[in-house]
Amino acid sequence: MRADKILANSGYGTRSEVKELFRRGRVALRGEVIRDPGASISDADIQELSLDGQPVVASENLYFLLNKPDGYLTAMNDDRLPCVGDLLPPQWKNKKISPVGRLDFHTTGALLLTNDGELSHRLTSPKWHQEKVYLVTYSGEDLTENEVALFASGMTLHEAGHEPEKLKPATLSLLPDHQCRLTLTEGKTHQVKRMIAATGRSVELLHRERIGTLELKAEQPLGEIVALTPEEIAALKSSVQ
Ligand code: URA
Repeated sequence: MRADKILANSGYGTRSEVKELFRRGRVALRGEVIRDPGASISDADIQELSLDGQPVVASENLYFLLNKPDGYLTAMNDDRLPCVGDLLPPQWKNKKISPVGRLDFHTTGALLLTNDGELSHRLTSPKWHQEKVYLVTYSGEDLTENEVALFASGMTLHEAGHEPEKLKPATLSLLPDHQCRLTLTEGKTHQVKRMIAATGRSVELLHRERIGTLELKAEQPLGEIVALTPEEIAALKSSVQ
């Protein structure tokens, strides 16, 4: 495989960022600098690659963080509506990449996309209690310390036509201007909206800021997909070991 492809696939940057690493003489094979990004590397040699003297951690799998925009389905394909698969650059299509968990059509923010089925399974499994942090803009009376205590105690949802549903404790931080930050460790369907509705308010805007160790950076605009760095991939994996 081309040397630049190995690094780009492993999260060391976009193809052009990776080419720059070669031009600057930062990539080596068995200690010998390789300046040609198109150099062919055999499977056996992949583990001999280094960047700035550190072994390259080559990854078979692909990991991306999308800052999901409003008005997109969490799906790879849809005949009628825009979906997050439309935002994936062409070179990553047909790689069996899919979203980890789901955000509602109007919810914005952090959405992990990967073809690592094992990681995806673990991150969504209740067993690992992955924190998800949401910034909520709501309408209605200001939330108070009563709701902070209610959410912290592990509230039970009583919804018409449904069995009562006991939730895990959640952390609510009150913010000015009808905003709050809500940290959940489970991912029931429409959970944030249902919790806020149970207090008599309604969610106007919902934005996910963090999934476990993975935080959206302020400079990542809505609609942009970035490859995770090897450190981010390692942190996510070790959080579900
Ligand atoms: N909770 C919701 O209600 N909607 C989302 O999109 C995510 C969490």
